[in-house]
Amino acid sequence: MFQDFSPAAERNKAPILAALEPLLESAREVLEIGAGSGQHACHFAAALPWLRWQASEHPAGVVALAVNLAGAHIPLPAPLALDVRLKTWPVTAVDAVYAANVVHCMPWPAVEALFAGVARVLRAGGPLLLYGPFNRDGRFTSEGNLRLDAWARGLDPDFGLRDLAELEALAARVGLALCENLALPANNQLLVWRHASTQKTGR
Ligand SMILES: C[S@@+](CC[C@H](N)C(=O)[O-])C[C@H]1O[C@@H](n2cnc3c(N)ncnc32)[C@H](O)[C@@H]1O
Repeated sequence: MFQDFSPAAERNKAPILAALEPLLESAREVLEIGAGSGQHACHFAAALPWLRWQASEHPAGVVALAVNLAGAHIPLPAPLALDVRLKTWPVTAVDAVYAANVVHCMPWPAVEALFAGVARVLRAGGPLLLYGPFNRDGRFTSEGNLRLDAWARGLDPDFGLRDLAELEALAARVGLALCENLALPANNQLLVWRHASTQKTGR
């Protein structure tokens, strides 16, 4: 059993995988940020065997993640300690970046650092795949998301659901653009960002 087992990650892993698979057909190395329990890493690495799925986690959680990944008996590289706020990341170039339920669980300056870091390490044409609940035009898209926002702010008043327009403005400052916005179950979305220089954008 995974330490910090997440029932939500168990529920959402199948629909996320179905959305990810066509987006990662030509990728080789994927960096996952804030991998948490590692349930997504294990599920996706097993289902997408052409990928090198490099999970990472904040240094405070990386040992528990390493234990989970080792116990899963799936050929996965050891997870990296990565605090997105660091100027230097432990990877220099990847084909894709995946982060689930992360940007509402960190303060806004860390979200800014995440986008800046991804812009540095993501190869031209590759996707940043951001899964989770997001607000639209300053509004929650469901009662459940409103409750999730209250839960996150209870952990830290600087956490909370992020607005799509604010993320787009932030992404533009580091040269990333929203290319696809896929609706997933339970009012979650998979946002696909790419270097603006390499893609047409669309919502
Ligand atoms: C709600 S959990 C999501 C875990 C997992 N991705 C999932 O969907 O089940 C948020 C994650 O963001 C990570 N996180 C928060 N701040 C971070 C930072 N500065 N750098 C890297 N990861 C961070 C936490 O450690 C945690 O694993």
